Amino acid sequence: MVQLSFLSLVLAATSAVALELFVPEPCTFTATPTPTTSIPVGKRDPKGLDALAQRKRRYFGVAFDVNRMSDAAYTQLILAQFGQITAENSLKWETTEPSRGVFNFTNGDIVVKTAQRNKMSCQSIAPLRAHTLVWHSQLPSWVGNGNFTKKELISVMKNHINNVAGHYRGVPYAWDVVNEAFNEDGSFRQTVFYSTIGEEYIDIAFKQARLVDPKALLAINDYNIDGQGPKSTAMINLVKNARKRGVPIDQIGAQAHLVVGTLPTTIRENWQAMANLGVWVAVTELDIRMPTPANATSLAQQAADYKTVVNACLAVSRCVGVTVWGASDKYSWVPEVFSGEGAPLPYDDNLAPKPAYNAIVQALKA
Ligand code: XIL
Repeated sequence: MVQLSFLSLVLAATSAVALELFVPEPCTFTATPTPTTSIPVGKRDPKGLDALAQRKRRYFGVAFDVNRMSDAAYTQLILAQFGQITAENSLKWETTEPSRGVFNFTNGDIVVKTAQRNKMSCQSIAPLRAHTLVWHSQLPSWVGNGNFTKKELISVMKNHINNVAGHYRGVPYAWDVVNEAFNEDGSFRQTVFYSTIGEEYIDIAFKQARLVDPKALLAINDYNIDGQGPKSTAMINLVKNARKRGVPIDQIGAQAHLVVGTLPTTIRENWQAMANLGVWVAVTELDIRMPTPANATSLAQQAADYKTVVNACLAVSRCVGVTVWGASDKYSWVPEVFSGEGAPLPYDDNLAPKPAYNAIVQALKA
């Protein structure tokens, strides 16, 4: 009973001692093969974001990956401030199974070992989110254009879950099992999984993930499910109905890729409605972008917006933590994807804290 034990641990997590119980195998995992790159070691800041979040029985996490580790100052900042890591790219299908049946965990292992070597799993509530098993994007073409029959694609998907979730079994506190299943109007996105297998691909993926890693919380993750609207409604209905059928969905991940000055006004109510289903809510990929270059006004608005999001999570007792999608603007995915926009993270290009950072601290301290 993952949910029950998780619940009791969250409830028990009011005391520092109980925090260590949260993750099943805290500091013992040894990934294989041994990465050749050295694993960075940092020093946790006792006044950093995760330390503050823990006082509110939350974690504060960050997307990080091997390609950032050559920046030593940045790596130290990550290990000082944050208590949870999501591999930004290294656990995606194109990386972990680039050709059929050929698995590559080299970079994933480095990220996982970094979390472990820094004893994030001992000091943090939730050291590692694993992202992601079934997603239409960053999917190798052998899957997307494989012309598989329904039966074949189910087998391909199960095999991927068996190998990837199996490799890290017992380590992540949560897995993003299905990512971005919906269109903006709440209909299902026409991915290769949906078109070939039908809606049941979601049930099959979650059931398989539970079989393979019974200790991980299993999440369905999406963007634009922060405020109320058709996409949030679709997510709520899917999770409600799936759980009625016994499908093991434990957590809804709200990516929270947001735009400065345009936050939905119903974030707290919406996340509460999700939590009311009996699942956990996690803010999984928070960033709040703006037209660049930034100025004092946009930075101030961004600070207010970060505060709104962190406060919304703190107001929903089943919201377990907040993960930002990178720490410094220098390394954000935003400018590459949204032309003319950027500066969405709490640290600037020079790794200096922005007003947004101070606003998060204020929210966590309040
Ligand atoms: C992004 C990464 O940040 C980029 O480095 C990569 O090129 C594309 O993917 N939703 C998700 C994340 O679930 O996996 C995406 O990450 C951002 C949007």
